Amino acid sequence: MSELSYLRLMQETDLHWVLQVEQQSYDFPWSQKGFENSLDQGVNYIFCSAEHEMMGYACVLTVLDEAQLLNFCIAPAFRKSGIGRAALQQLMDKLKQAGYEQLLLEVRESNLPAQKLYLGCGFQTDGVRRNYYRCQEWREQTGELVEGKEDALLMSRSL
Ligand SMILES: CC(C)(COP(=O)(O)OP(=O)(O)OC[C@H]1O[C@@H](n2cnc3c(N)ncnc32)[C@H](O)[C@@H]1OP(=O)(O)O)[C@@H](O)C(=O)NCCC(=O)NCCS
Repeated sequence: MSELSYLRLMQETDLHWVLQVEQQSYDFPWSQKGFENSLDQGVNYIFCSAEHEMMGYACVLTVLDEAQLLNFCIAPAFRKSGIGRAALQQLMDKLKQAGYEQLLLEVRESNLPAQKLYLGCGFQTDGVRRNYYRCQEWREQTGELVEGKEDALLMSRSL
């Protein structure tokens, strides 16, 4: 199994791969425009193996000494083998070196794998944003997918 080796800045030429992984990973994926805005306004990384294979990505927005993790994703083929934890650690080291003091994020209440990762990497839960996300629910009785709302947990970690 490949291991994470390094992170590098995301480029526009990465977006084809990034969008594919994004679609496989979220019920409400970011659009191409969303990533283009993030490339204009934020700091975005690709996580790579020693063989330069792309394993995941992160999109970060920075304000003064705070960094906000807007998107963090590991490609399905590489999950559950410690890549997410290693990637988050490398990202935090990079942000710390760049002088950022705090890393903030929001995560869906239902996203237990991500919460486990963040708590394991030293994040604390600071609060809840009620009904922050759109979500999809399967209604057994009617056999249809309906849209609802879901809370966001606000988490942070000092760098
Ligand atoms: C969340 C995500 C980044 C985790 O990446 P990963 O490479 O699988 O994570 P790791 O293998 O490093 O595991 C980190 C921790 O999370 C736990 N974990 C990971 N996937 C899990 C799962 N499906 N169920 C339960 N726990 C899980 C691991 O057990 C590990 O905890 P431990 O160290 O206490 O054992 C990945 O599942 C993903 O990209 N999901 C889709 C996008 C997403 O939800 N991003 C977060 C948005 S806020």
